[in-house]
Amino acid sequence: MGSQIPNPCYVLEVDKLRSNLEKIEYVRKSSGVTILLAFKAFAFWPVLNIVREKFGVATASSLNEVMLANTYMLSKPHTYAPVYSPEDIDEIIERSSHLTFNSLGLIERYREKIRQSRNKDLSVGLRVNPELSQVETDLYNPCLPGSRLGVPADELPEELPEEIEGFHVHALCESSAAETASLLGQIEKKFGRWLGKLKWLNIGGGHLMTRAGYDTEGLIEALRAFRSRHQNLELILEPGSAFGWQTGYLTSRVEDIVEHGGVKTAMLNVSFACHMPDCLEMPYKPVIRGAHHEPVAGLPTYRMGGCSCLSGDYVGEWSFDKELKVGDEIIFEDMMHYTTVKTTMFNGVKHPSMAVQDSKDSEIRVVRSFDFSDYVGRMG
Ligand SMILES: Cc1ncc(COP(=O)(O)O)c(C=O)c1O
Repeated sequence: MGSQIPNPCYVLEVDKLRSNLEKIEYVRKSSGVTILLAFKAFAFWPVLNIVREKFGVATASSLNEVMLANTYMLSKPHTYAPVYSPEDIDEIIERSSHLTFNSLGLIERYREKIRQSRNKDLSVGLRVNPELSQVETDLYNPCLPGSRLGVPADELPEELPEEIEGFHVHALCESSAAETASLLGQIEKKFGRWLGKLKWLNIGGGHLMTRAGYDTEGLIEALRAFRSRHQNLELILEPGSAFGWQTGYLTSRVEDIVEHGGVKTAMLNVSFACHMPDCLEMPYKPVIRGAHHEPVAGLPTYRMGGCSCLSGDYVGEWSFDKELKVGDEIIFEDMMHYTTVKTTMFNGVKHPSMAVQDSKDSEIRVVRSFDFSDYVGRMG
């Protein structure tokens, strides 16, 4: 594969994306919920035409994502961001179908703008905080005490401001069907007295329904049961990771091998900090194609070192059947969700090219490569 495409390169495998779309569509059809693609996790627009065949609406978290939805999903998104700035709000109101605010104060601030807008179909929502922590990593847990995200039930007025038509909850991350069921139970417990007055309930993302072993039938059952108890509500899910889960990889190359204090590090032309940030933030150890995920005594064993000068830009160790050498290709699996949407050019590092493989046997098409103009263009 190495010679066909530039290195480094993110490669999206369309067959795998289609298979995820089918699984998510099955959940949608069987449960009767609405499912949106969360752009924050996966916004690789050259394949959004494929997503659109089954899922025509996205959820956006900024004006840029709103415009991406208008342009490449050909629809108005459901929009939620923790804050909206006055410079952006008019356009966001105009270009969205649903607009969720993070506080009652923000609704107050923009009430007049909404009333005066030409978009009379806009449906306004409020993010609420269910105060149920099922996510272990604090960085991804919106329900930590004092969280800035969403209004807790005991701070809500008995009578909601009249424009509020929906509640938005996001409290999961790579979670199971049982955790979604617990979240739904908690929402009923905390917010039951308002639910009857609303038109929709968005239960956010974190439903990893494309992961092997996910209890799809359990999810469907929980969603159907909730819907039958709340027939006035459109139940909405907005997963992101589930769409991009295991739909592609990142190629890289060994540029040097260093050994200090008994630790061998394969120095790569990619960076964990810049190109695989969740490996450091979550943190987790990605799968390398053909490598032993856990070190094996007696086999050549290496850390993988990133190309930025951040001291902590490394992960590992992995073992290989043969010694690595300069020029070897290292392929990181499952590098589509929360990668290309989060990458940086810290240190001016080269951004990996972007490529698509339409089917298993087809050629890999490079859709974008990056150069100095991309780096310098971000600053002036
Ligand atoms: C409000 C909201 N919706 C949806 C998502 C998507 O979550 P995931 O990619 O885990 O499905 C996130 C992720 O942070 C989020 O904050």
